[in-house]
Amino acid sequence: MAESNGHGLLKGKKGIIFGALDERSIAWRIALACHREGAELALSNAPIAMRLGKLDTLAEQTGAGIYPCDVSDNDDVDSLMKKLKEEFGGVDFILHAIGMSPNVRKKIDYKDLNYHFYNQTLDISAISLHKVIHYADSNGLLNKGGSILALSYIGAQRIFSKYSDMNDAKALLESIARNYGSRLADRGIRVNTVSQAPTKTSAGTGIKGFDSMFTFADKIAPLGNPDADECADYCVTLFSDLTRKVTMQTLYHDGGFVTAGISEEMINSLAKLYSEKD
Ligand SMILES: NC(=O)c1ccc[n+]([C@@H]2O[C@H](COP(=O)([O-])OP(=O)(O)OC[C@H]3O[C@@H](n4cnc5c(N)ncnc54)[C@H](O)[C@@H]3O)[C@@H](O)[C@H]2O)c1
Repeated sequence: MAESNGHGLLKGKKGIIFGALDERSIAWRIALACHREGAELALSNAPIAMRLGKLDTLAEQTGAGIYPCDVSDNDDVDSLMKKLKEEFGGVDFILHAIGMSPNVRKKIDYKDLNYHFYNQTLDISAISLHKVIHYADSNGLLNKGGSILALSYIGAQRIFSKYSDMNDAKALLESIARNYGSRLADRGIRVNTVSQAPTKTSAGTGIKGFDSMFTFADKIAPLGNPDADECADYCVTLFSDLTRKVTMQTLYHDGGFVTAGISEEMINSLAKLYSEKD
């Protein structure tokens, strides 16, 4: 699908994409897929990411404008939504693909979390979804029948030790999606999270032990790990009118990992490993 001309699934729709940093970012792949399907886009990221990333290239490829915004700053989010209201009138979809944990970056053990960093993790990775929806709504930017999506991870339900306080952030993120989804449903606006498999991006590979998490998931998932382009195709369906009654859900996009117990391949490898140890 990534190379196809698309199906016009988002023709006439306008959307905001948060979190594209470089070509590996899931948000980057989603922006390309939304553009392919005919959407008009606004790209937003933290001012620091503008300097470190390559957002100009994506803006050229998608014909989108760039809007700096640090989601930890309430006034910044409010100003962004005011600006977009002036320029777009309204938006039909929003992608929240924002995650950051200073504790994970600094490899601080969960039992010894730095609480200032912990607050930052929760604020940037989860509470920002509330802020984005709140300020979009209070500025009259949310069109009826729209779709809001945030990217999550199975750490919200099951503990992956190296994911540390991001496990907590994803649980909060999914809860905010459900809570807000119930409040926007009267205007046909749906709010969901897509729980994506480990994906090789800058945030992903910054996690200690990421390669093991990636391989573990890939070996267990019957369909294997989906990549960022496959995630993008799934997100397109959720922004489109084909999924009008899907809301308040955590939607697993993980090749079946969440439901699978263990694969034959892994059983055989483990049996071999432990028989060698005995
Ligand atoms: N990579 C994975 O394995 C994986 C798996 C499941 C879910 N996710 C989620 O997908 C989303 C996108 O991550 P990614 O893997 O594409 O990595 P990424 O590093 O490309 O994207 C993370 C983005 O968050 C942005 N960000 C950080 N602080 C911000 C702030 N204060 N204001 C605005 N933006 C800020 C970064 O600039 C970056 O663009 C995240 O929510 C991540 O948790 C990733």
